[in-house]
Amino acid sequence: VRPAVQIRGATLEDAEGILGLYRRVASIPGGLARLEAEIDDSYVRHFLNRSMAAGLELVAVDPAGTILGEIHAYVPGPRCFAHVLSELTIAVDPGIQGRGVGRRLFATFMNIVLEEHPAISRVELIARKSNSKAIRFYRTIGFAVEGELTDRIRNLDGSFESDIPMAWRRG
Ligand SMILES: CC(C)(COP(=O)(O)OP(=O)(O)OC[C@H]1O[C@@H](n2cnc3c(N)ncnc32)[C@H](O)[C@@H]1OP(=O)(O)O)[C@@H](O)C(=O)NCCC(=O)NCCS
Repeated sequence: VRPAVQIRGATLEDAEGILGLYRRVASIPGGLARLEAEIDDSYVRHFLNRSMAAGLELVAVDPAGTILGEIHAYVPGPRCFAHVLSELTIAVDPGIQGRGVGRRLFATFMNIVLEEHPAISRVELIARKSNSKAIRFYRTIGFAVEGELTDRIRNLDGSFESDIPMAWRRG
């Protein structure tokens, strides 16, 4: 069943709801880079502020207003990167993953970039190599693998893993 969520732009008032979402998502290892204990108010406010100042952030909310999904990316800062949306992160509540919310969020996000942000010609993200579900998903959205950052991630068990940089470029 398709979850009854609505997608809208994020506001500063969403900080608490996004914090809760990220903690729930990070409690399951293998997706987000941050561990649950590394997700705090200042991290969430940092990307919320950056995305609102120069970027894009959307949330998926259920009829009660609970935030069940989020996507954001922002312009890095130096002028030479003014055409780039970077640090893209997407998270969907573990209770409704695999039911189309992530695809709806990402498709909406890319439509807004295409239609309302003509100066943005590149969107980039990094996914851990073992998150093949996410990497396949990003390919279907139009992202291409640009290489392999070897041993960039050290897992909790001490093993190392590659990070995979991906980018979408305006056609
Ligand atoms: C990655 C994530 C954002 C995807 O959102 P989602 O709502 O679960 O995904 P959707 O149901 O919209 O599915 C999108 C695509 O992912 C793939 N996918 C989803 N669930 C899958 C599963 N269980 N097995 C294999 N592929 C799957 C499919 O390709 C699907 O495409 P389809 O629409 O053609 O079926 C979400 O699972 C998540 O938050 N994961 C944990 C955090 C994370 O990994 N974030 C990304 C870090 S780079």
